[in-house]
Parts: sequence; structure tokens; C-alpha cells
Amino acid sequence: MLDEASAAHSARARNYVKDQIAAAGGWLGFEQFMELALYAPGLGYYSGGAQKLGMGGDFTTAPEISSLFGRCVALQCAEVFRALHAPSILEIGAGSGRLAADILMRLEELGQLPENYWILDVSADLRERQRALLAERLPHVLQRVGWLDRPPEEPFDGIVLANEVLDALPVARFRWRASGVDEWGVGLDDKDFAWVARPANPAMAQACRRLYEAGGGWDEGYSSEYCPRTPAWTRAVTQSLRSGAVLWFDYGLPRDEYYLPERHDGTLVCHYRHRVSSDPLVHVGLQDITAWVDFTLLAEASREAGFELAGFTTQAHFLAGLGIDREMRLAAGDDENRFARLANQARQLMLPGEMGERFKAMVWLRGLDMPLSGFELLDLRHTL
Ligand SMILES: C[S@@+](CC[C@H](N)C(=O)[O-])C[C@H]1O[C@@H](n2cnc3c(N)ncnc32)[C@H](O)[C@@H]1O
Repeated sequence: MLDEASAAHSARARNYVKDQIAAAGGWLGFEQFMELALYAPGLGYYSGGAQKLGMGGDFTTAPEISSLFGRCVALQCAEVFRALHAPSILEIGAGSGRLAADILMRLEELGQLPENYWILDVSADLRERQRALLAERLPHVLQRVGWLDRPPEEPFDGIVLANEVLDALPVARFRWRASGVDEWGVGLDDKDFAWVARPANPAMAQACRRLYEAGGGWDEGYSSEYCPRTPAWTRAVTQSLRSGAVLWFDYGLPRDEYYLPERHDGTLVCHYRHRVSSDPLVHVGLQDITAWVDFTLLAEASREAGFELAGFTTQAHFLAGLGIDREMRLAAGDDENRFARLANQARQLMLPGEMGERFKAMVWLRGLDMPLSGFELLDLRHTL
């Protein structure tokens, strides 16, 4: 059951999307539907005011589970910083601001604070929360933190990083049939949203044939998705990085595993109040809609954007490579209860059945050639 305010918000969001569908002649490709559901001004999931992260929100993320995640990311940043002069960090999609706070606290302990910590986030509401959290936890560092409306234009050295942002980029959905490829979109059936397939345009049909070559053996009606925006978006948010590293964390797979025949309905995952579903047509404006990341596409995008793909590994191996066990000891000090709590959190971050294998870390380098501890234990680049 929705409370009154949520029901009213969702009704406004639904009506807005229905008007857009009507204006487009009764059908919108899923990519446009997902964009509206997540980003329609004031109404989309990320543009509206819902809490989103943490226990009282819809889903939880690695930085929300434990400060150990941010501590390890900070160690990886510190390693890169040693090779650079006056480095800065650009974080994209900073959520509650916890990752930023944990990274900055650990870098301060190491005496390696960045010149600037910029945050680029589409959500005005989350930006306010980030500001409040950082003002509470790190008031003396706040002058280094800035919120951007677009990627920096001036070239800078340092790090671009994002945890669980790529999975929110709108994806196109397709259906594979012997007679041709269809694009899944959304129409109206008795005033409710309904899936409607239409013949795909030639660009989409060609893109799907490439995916078929990777996955192979699809049945009639096999449906999945891909993210046409990944190359342009990643290029846009990393283009001003002159020298340094780009760190991506997200759940996903190399292309040939992503498009295996048995995954015949794609990877859409929706989150509403910690309930997971695969139906993006409900709770519009109230639920998060995500798709798994095709890491092969991300690797291709890195080369197109002028970077070297320097590492690809699981979240568990990334954290282990950076010494999460030592971080646990340091963070707990002599407090055995705190150590036990941290050990429990580390299990959630690292166990294969939890986040350890599903979540991956990828790093791109520009102007640098150096080993990176987070990527040394397990190199999965050959799987891409
Ligand atoms: C799933 S949350 C992850 C938050 C945080 N990184 C974490 O791990 O807890 C996605 C974040 O990305 C932001 N976001 C979504 N799409 C974005 C985009 N296209 N550009 C910048 N930020 C975006 C959201 O507002 C939110 O802060």
C-alpha cells in the first residue's frame, strides 16, 4: 500500500509519462520511457524527493553497507595520487554522500587530500543530502567539495569515480525473432502502461546482431536490453581528465555472459522499498529501474574515449587487493564489537552470494602506466 504522498507523486508521474506517450503517437521506446521514469523534471525517480538509499529507502549500496568500501577506494586513489601533481576527484552520482565522506576521511588520515572533490549528480534532493552529510562529518574539508551541473571543462589530473551509476543509464529493449528484430516500447492499454513491440530501426537491428554473435543460440522471442548511451556518456564525464584514473563499480557481466541464451528476458531490476521486481511499468516515479552493465561495452568505450583499460576484477578481489582486512583492524582499533560488526559488513561486500562477484571494478588510465593494487589479485580483462 502506498501512503498518500507517494500515491499522489506516482499519479503525477504516470500522467506525465502518459501525456508524453500520447504526444509521441501512442508509443515510446523503452529507452525514452526509462529516461522519463527516472529523470522527468521533478517527477522522475532521481529528480523527485524520495529517500532512495539506505534502510528507509529502496535499496542499499556498498558505501551504505560499510565504510570499508570507501576506505579501500581511498587507498586506490592515494596510490594514483602519488603519481600526479595536485590531483582532484570527480565523483558521479554520489547518493547519500557516504562514499565521498569515507574517501575524504581516509585520504585525510593519509595526508593525501585532493585539491578538489567535485560531485556531479542529477538529483537536487540528493545533492542537498550530500551537502548536509559532508558538513556534519567533515566541516573542515567542505571548502574542497563542490557540486557541478556538468563535467568540468578545464582539464584536471586525478580520478573520476562512480559506484552504481552506469546501471541507471536508460537502456533500449529488444526482441529477437527469426523474421527480424523488434524494439520493445510502452503504449497504453485501457489507460495502463503496456509493453508493445515494433520493428526495430536498422541501427538497433545491427546492434542486436552483434550481441547475438556474442551470446548466441537465442530462442524465438528472446528479449534483452543494451545501453546505447554508454560510449557518449562515459566520454562526456571523463573527457576533461588529463592524467589519472577512471574507476567504475557496478553489477554486470562481460558481453558473452550477459547475452547467454538462458538469460532470455534480460536483466532489468527495479527496487521499491527493498523489494525487487523486474516490472518497470509499475510504481512509476517511485521505483528505481536498473539494468546490468555490459562491461565489454564499457571496455570498448574506454578505448574510444582515449584511455587504456588497466584493470577489471570482482569487487571482492578489488577490496582484498587493497587490504580490507587491515582496514578493518585499523577502523576497529581495540573495539572488538566494532571489529565484529565490520567483519560482518565485509562479508556482505565480499561473499560470492552477496556482492562479491556480481559487482565488478574496472579502471581506465590516461597519461599514466602503473600497477594498481585493487586489480592485481585477479585480472579478468581477458573475459571482455
Ligand atoms: C544507485 S545511486 C548510487 C549512489 C552512490 N554512488 C552509492 O553507491 O551509494 C545512483 C546515483 O547516481 C545519480 N545519478 C543517476 N543518474 C545519473 C546521471 N545520469 N548523471 C549523474 N548522476 C546520476 C543518482 O542521483 C544517485 O545519486
